Amino acid sequence: MYDLVVIGAGWAGFNAALRAKDSGLKVCLIESGQIGGTCLNRGCIPTKALIASAKVYSLLKKSSGFGVESDNPRFNLSKIQERKNKLILDLAQGIQSRLAGIDFVKSNAEIISKHEIKVDARIVSAEFILISTGSRPAELAQLKFDAVKIISSDEILSLLSVPRSLLIIGGGVIGCEFAGLFSTLGTEVSILEKLPLLLPGEDKEAARKLEVIFKKKGIKVYTNADISAIDLNVYEKVLVCVGRIPNVSGLGLEGLGLKLENRGIAVDDYLRTSVGNIYAAGDCTAKIMLAHYAAYQGVAAVENMISGNKYKVNNPVVPACIFCDPEIASVGLNEEKAQVAGLSVKVHKFDFRASAMARIIDECEGFIKVISNQDTEEVIGGCIIGPKATELIAILTMAVSAHLKVSQIRAIIFAHPTLSESLRESII
Ligand code: NAI
Repeated sequence: MYDLVVIGAGWAGFNAALRAKDSGLKVCLIESGQIGGTCLNRGCIPTKALIASAKVYSLLKKSSGFGVESDNPRFNLSKIQERKNKLILDLAQGIQSRLAGIDFVKSNAEIISKHEIKVDARIVSAEFILISTGSRPAELAQLKFDAVKIISSDEILSLLSVPRSLLIIGGGVIGCEFAGLFSTLGTEVSILEKLPLLLPGEDKEAARKLEVIFKKKGIKVYTNADISAIDLNVYEKVLVCVGRIPNVSGLGLEGLGLKLENRGIAVDDYLRTSVGNIYAAGDCTAKIMLAHYAAYQGVAAVENMISGNKYKVNNPVVPACIFCDPEIASVGLNEEKAQVAGLSVKVHKFDFRASAMARIIDECEGFIKVISNQDTEEVIGGCIIGPKATELIAILTMAVSAHLKVSQIRAIIFAHPTLSESLRESII
């Protein structure tokens, strides 16, 4: 009998299994697909690898502005893909090597009772079960995926030629990242978003700024749009990225009477499902669908199994990053969310055009916005659009997590000339 059986070896399941092993539990990790799940195979890692290649290409194209001549820069998509695939392989090997001491089974798993899981033809039993089966791209009823023209974020990652034209349906995180990537590679990109702004939920000013920058790059952005009015024949490829659906079928959940919520597995503040010894973590819970949050949930679930549910997961500070060009990252509350929460806020802003380092690297588009509570002076959130936003957000995340006051940040010495000093500049 295992102490813990984890179903799904994505970022939630992998981190949970490691934490459990380190705590001395006897762990079995079951995965039907590739180790590393969406993040490693079809999400964070491959997209960022492709984006890194596109960044090198765009830097080469503007190198003469730095006094460096690189005539006729061009790219080879097959080699870009090879690099991406090798990176995935290397990281998968790294993950595999860290699984020493954990029984890893490559198979489908079905929970047949509170303590039993069917794996292939055998039954394994466990004190605790963690479901971390992830999510998959949502499909539109009127536009089914065909893996050739109407594709999801899974297929677009493996294209071997750059499409002449690409229609992106859904101007959310995935849509904006691929829009930037393929536009840099020379594709005519159009984004169709049903809501009034790109990146719903994100800071509105940053979303508007991105739209302006996208348009300057030649990306066509249609907001308040209706796909039934679009002629799809005009486009070589159509990427549908309108959200993701939790993977909950085929797991035997109906037989257990396990409750669902928002199409995902319902969990309480301790990550417990409606069946006491079964926990769930990651995208399958339909909460915040981010790899780092999944890992946090996975580890928290294990802490709760060990401690008898002493680790409450409520209101964590979760940064969100969008790897378009310029990058966008945010954390905590934005102005609208603060207003909904009934807080009076002060908005501190700094434009990257005033940053020496942003000028040095010629990436001046964007701003840092820090939101503080008017009454307490506490930093409660912020958003960055601009160079290295996805790295800079860590500083704001620490400020929000540590409940730092504006005056405390003001007292910190940031190195000059750096992008990070812009954070302090914003609250002068
Ligand atoms: P999303 O929820 O970010 O965006 C989906 C967009 O599609 C929304 O703007 C929505 O209004 C729009 N939409 C829905 N139906 C539509 C229709 N019929 N016509 C036109 N537009 C329509 O979902 P997305 O981009 O698919 O990403 C899925 C998840 O993956 C998100 O939770 C995201 O945070 C996560 N992710 C995170 C990344 C990161 O951290 N860098 C990268 C990629 C994805």
